[in-house]
Amino acid sequence: MGDFISYKELGLVNSRAIFKKAVAGGYAIPAYNFNNLEQLQAIIVACVETKSPVIIQVSNGARNYANETMLRHMATGAVQMAKELGADIPIVLHLDHGDSFELCKSCIDSGFSSVMIDGSHLSFAENIALTKQVVDYAHQYDVTVEGELGVLAGIEDDVVAEESTYTQPEEVEEFVKKTGVDSLAISIGTSHGAFKFKLKEGESVPPLRFDILAECEQRIPGFPIVLHGASSVVQEYVALINQYGGHLDGAVGVPEDQLRKAAASAVCKINIDSDGRLAMTAKVREFLANNPNEFDPRKFLGAARNELISLIKHKNETVLGSAGKA
Ligand code: G3H
Ligand code: 13P
Ligand code: ZN
Repeated sequence: MGDFISYKELGLVNSRAIFKKAVAGGYAIPAYNFNNLEQLQAIIVACVETKSPVIIQVSNGARNYANETMLRHMATGAVQMAKELGADIPIVLHLDHGDSFELCKSCIDSGFSSVMIDGSHLSFAENIALTKQVVDYAHQYDVTVEGELGVLAGIEDDVVAEESTYTQPEEVEEFVKKTGVDSLAISIGTSHGAFKFKLKEGESVPPLRFDILAECEQRIPGFPIVLHGASSVVQEYVALINQYGGHLDGAVGVPEDQLRKAAASAVCKINIDSDGRLAMTAKVREFLANNPNEFDPRKFLGAARNELISLIKHKNETVLGSAGKA
């Protein structure tokens, strides 16, 4: 193990102040996952151009794909790049779905400014104990911690949940109090990935459980709430992917108006990964199909990156309301 590196030396911030402002202001901070250079460039360019605070987040899968050290250095580069582009936006480097104390500690020790400990699959008591252990360590270094109550349908890294178990509002107060977490992810009907709802012919997407969100808010007023699985699964991208050889029939996500409604409440962090994946895949497929002689990755990844910039600007400006809040 190398020496301890504080995120403060890297120009990153934790999530405390930006969440406070977001809850008060009725908007949400975007949390975009990144695994490679083009995704990170797109996030930074789009957030600088829209003057939005941003959480760049790294999953376990991303660490395995790109290497934790590499990702952290990329994040440092992102901070510098944002400054060079002329906007000093707050940037949080966050561990997405941390599944153990050791992993959270390793990220904190290597420069992350925020971590999620996802004990949602554990019993209530075990979730509290694990989350508190991470909080006690993280807070020594002013690193913020996200916990989770309730299980999202679909796949949460290695944790597979067939049916979503909605957050039980009567548990949130005790969880927040006993763990000392800085934010809480809740389950109100979203799920990860591009197939969030199984719809029959003629059916439309069911509304999220805003009643559960409202009850949570009532019990922990002003406390930062996080929404995972919040991609809208933009149908134009699904159509492009299918047009150019893909098979994503029935892919559907959370409608934008529902996300806007959530962002106006105590939801102050909205996690988006799948929409970016779809945007990039659509453009790569389209580019390669239309340019069969091209073999320079900068060409097709450049097209994907440009689309991701547009998508993120749209999210910040129109869906989350974070544009202009940096
Ligand atoms: O929560 C899931 C995120 O979309 C990250 O996905 O584990 O495939 O990197 P991943
Ligand atoms: P989506 O799959 O809906 O983009 O959710 C991403 C997420 O919650 C990452 O933690
Ligand atoms: Zn998630």
